[in-house]
Amino acid sequence: MSVLVTGGAGYIGSHAVQRLLAEGHDVVVVDNLFRGHLAAIDRLRQRAKGGDRLGFERLDIGQTDAIEAIIRERRIETIMHFAAWTYVGESVEKPVDYYTNNTAGSLSLIRACERSWSHSHGGVKRFVFSSTAATYGEPPAEHVPIRENCPQHPINPYGASKLMVERMLIDAVSAAARHGRNFGAACLRYFNVAGADRTGLIGEDHDPETHLIPIAIQAALGKRPGLTIFGDDYPTPDGTCIRDYVHVEDLADAHVTVMQKMRARETVAYNLGIGRGYSVREVASAVERVTGKPIPITIGKRRAGDPPALFADPAKIRRELGWNAGWTDLDRIIATAWDWMRHNPDGYKS
Ligand code: UFG
Repeated sequence: MSVLVTGGAGYIGSHAVQRLLAEGHDVVVVDNLFRGHLAAIDRLRQRAKGGDRLGFERLDIGQTDAIEAIIRERRIETIMHFAAWTYVGESVEKPVDYYTNNTAGSLSLIRACERSWSHSHGGVKRFVFSSTAATYGEPPAEHVPIRENCPQHPINPYGASKLMVERMLIDAVSAAARHGRNFGAACLRYFNVAGADRTGLIGEDHDPETHLIPIAIQAALGKRPGLTIFGDDYPTPDGTCIRDYVHVEDLADAHVTVMQKMRARETVAYNLGIGRGYSVREVASAVERVTGKPIPITIGKRRAGDPPALFADPAKIRRELGWNAGWTDLDRIIATAWDWMRHNPDGYKS
């Protein structure tokens, strides 16, 4: 199958590309390289199984005409849409950028899909969208673990920018069905994505880095003075926030499973998590165990917008598609991030 992957030079997108190539698909990455890494594409081309089937176009997803041309030329049937701005804090400061890049950018892609239905190959049939647990906002305790039918009330522009795309896809898919088009969409709501490809070829390289596991590892490596825990007075067993850490390889696997099994004329949503949560303190202890190095810890103030506990009930995707997270052991997940970061201390610049 020919798959267009937006944001394929980024953290999660590049792992999905690796998996698609390994499964024998033809892939074109569209990435504006604002936060993605050309080096990830180079590494995949040179060293990944099937790397010779990987195309790359430096484009913004807002360039509808250019995207439509790629769909036509490469006979694209599936779009996996990862490209987005993803920092919750930044979204509060720059909401218009988030709605431009995430919401309007996605609308441009959906428009390109719509235009492609008149192409000779029939155009795009599947749209797999990177949504987020941030669309749930602060779910009440009785909704945790979170199922897909939990009310979605995002509490920041990042979550809102993604929820709007879910809504646009629902409407676009039903309108397409009314016009006899075989178009379907899947909204994959990620929990906390972690780890790196087990072969060490690609990994997580964010600038600035805001995520707990890489920050804790940087502290263990001595690249930061320590880890500040954002609040230890939450209503959780040890007072720190609980999150569901899902391995990036499992996430890539889920995308391919969904792509193969999703149906035309419907929009589905799945939570992608392991189904259990770990507290910030548990993560810090696990990083100390895995790295064998102590992490100096300071207790800081709560970070705005952090819900006390977010973890998935992943039963729906298990029941409907047979997908299960393979990586459920926190230490093993962290070990892959540790391997990546110590062998690539400056990320892709290493
Ligand atoms: N944390 C600290 N100190 C740090 C960094 C993080 O205590 O230096 C804490 C946070 O307060 C939070 C937990 O560690 O309680 C995890 O924080 P991350 O920043 O790693 O991840 P978030 O849960 O904030 O957000 C992630 C993604 C979002 C996504 C969300 C969905 O970054 O894009 O998961 O659950 F929306």
